[in-house]
Amino acid sequence: MSLSNTSFLTSEQLTRSEIDQLFQRARLFKSEYAEKKTIEHLVKESHKILALVFAEPSTRTRMSFQMSAAQLGLRVAILDNPSVASLSKGETLEDTVRNVAAMQPDAMVVRFNKDADAEKALPELSCHIINGGIGTEEHPTQALLDAYTIQEFHGKVEGEKILIVGDVLHSRVANSNLLLLQKMGAEVAYCAPEAFVPQKEQWKEVKSFASLEEGVKWASVIMGLRVQRERHVDQGVGLSIAEYREKYRIGGDQLKFFAKDGILLHPGPVIRGIEFSDYVLSEPRCKVRDQVTNGVFVRAALLSFVLGLEVQGA
Ligand code: CP
Repeated sequence: MSLSNTSFLTSEQLTRSEIDQLFQRARLFKSEYAEKKTIEHLVKESHKILALVFAEPSTRTRMSFQMSAAQLGLRVAILDNPSVASLSKGETLEDTVRNVAAMQPDAMVVRFNKDADAEKALPELSCHIINGGIGTEEHPTQALLDAYTIQEFHGKVEGEKILIVGDVLHSRVANSNLLLLQKMGAEVAYCAPEAFVPQKEQWKEVKSFASLEEGVKWASVIMGLRVQRERHVDQGVGLSIAEYREKYRIGGDQLKFFAKDGILLHPGPVIRGIEFSDYVLSEPRCKVRDQVTNGVFVRAALLSFVLGLEVQGA
């Protein structure tokens, strides 16, 4: 397993068989936790230290890493409020991660804006690094939990038709998902307004739908994305939220055309009424909360590999 005792920065790193091993371990952790409310007993060595350095806001990624670390018996040190860190005194993020690494955690989960340049420091750090969401580049642990959720509900990822809807241009989640889902044999397409059409090379050959209704009819899985308004500030997008909602919000009218056994995903945070309607969020086909639950176990499995923990049973 190439993930053992190493960093995890991109979905590209994983082979099909490694994804299978990771998901097998996540399933073991999830079923064990459901039965016994603990997985700590499955892990032999659990005194390692995980640092979390989050220079952008997060609820799901940060807390699920904390929860999964707790389940594995790891100790966690967190820097997640830049205003009370020495960043506020002028230290760069690049130097901040160097200094946290100098404290010798066993691994560090990082989240920051690509523009912060902190990525430059990552290769030289002495601990394993896990990408917890870097700018508009990648968010590979989100892609893993998305693929795991698809497999959980549809029994497979291969052959699934995944429609990604919305702000694809600014979405690190979409980038990581495209790499991972294609590797797992899914067909990926997107539906986005002109302002949010992805420009990276990896998207050039990807199918796109001008009509949301046509895309919904085609899909077995719909993945909504958050409209990333904080990333529109500098360039502007020439599209109002009202215009976006009018054409791209998924509501009951669109779901009339969606497969009865289809599922709806969203990495969160969902901005109600803009990406999904309240009705969609209460629909049985909407698996957003399942994604969040699965994130804990997928991240626990990932941490166990990255930290080289010995796990009984998987
Ligand atoms: N999906 C995701 O990254 O959510 P958070 O920003 O809350 O971590």
